[in-house]
Amino acid sequence: MSKSYNKGKVKAVDDLSLSVRPGEIFGFLGPNGAGKTTTIKMMVGLLKADSGTISINGYSIEREPIAVKQSISYVPDNPEVYEKLTGIEYLNFLGDVYGVPAAARRERIARFLDLFGLTGAVNNLIQSYSHGMRQKIVLIGALLHEPQVFILDEPMVGLDPKSSHSLKEYMKEHCAGGRTVFFSTHILEVAEKLCHRIGIIHQGRLIACGTMEELREQSRDKSLENIFLELTE
Ligand SMILES: Nc1ncnc2c1ncn2[C@@H]1O[C@H](COP(=O)(O)OP(=O)(O)OP(=O)(O)O)[C@@H](O)[C@H]1O
Ligand SMILES: [Mg+2]
Repeated sequence: MSKSYNKGKVKAVDDLSLSVRPGEIFGFLGPNGAGKTTTIKMMVGLLKADSGTISINGYSIEREPIAVKQSISYVPDNPEVYEKLTGIEYLNFLGDVYGVPAAARRERIARFLDLFGLTGAVNNLIQSYSHGMRQKIVLIGALLHEPQVFILDEPMVGLDPKSSHSLKEYMKEHCAGGRTVFFSTHILEVAEKLCHRIGIIHQGRLIACGTMEELREQSRDKSLENIFLELTE
């Protein structure tokens, strides 16, 4: 797919072709302005591609947007939250939107609040939450319907080490059941340790894609940092 801004002046994504398999944690890397967020917004139906097609879980984002949205969850890089709702009101609202049955909802809300250490704050207004707490309530809301494909744009930014660890553990658990995680990040150590496959985008083009081993073969280097720096030079 391709996408330009400003009537074609800025080519943000340039003939990008990519597939991610079930059961995979896929890390999407690239320098600032490389086109990661633009790609993700096209995947989740927030931006329309100029050309190309995207299908998720077998559904076309263009022809079957609702089916795609029912099978994914998307956590943006800068999530907006409803400040005048309490945490639990927000979670129940999302549970309603995604049609999560009451019993499953209760169980998941309790489990995820515990996982992210937010149980004590859930009855307070979101406007009183810290940056990291807001991020965590958005993450929990995104997980309530147990999406087939979990799409996150720089999810570790602003999370403390324990929450970041919990999120990584959850990603592994999510994929072990045959579901998929696609996330962008600048934290190369996380990508190296966590991802089954990694794609590197630079100036809108996919310049490398594969397992760590395949990336190492491609550039005869050991660390992802050096591979990244060499390829995006
Ligand atoms: N709304 C917009 N209008 C015009 N140009 C835009 C717009 N959004 C993004 N761009 C441009 O498109 C390119 C890709 O931006 P994008 O946000 O996708 O990058 P990114 O890889 O997510 O970067 P970062 O790591 O900084 O989040 C950049 O050159 C950016 O300036
Ligand atoms: Mg971005």
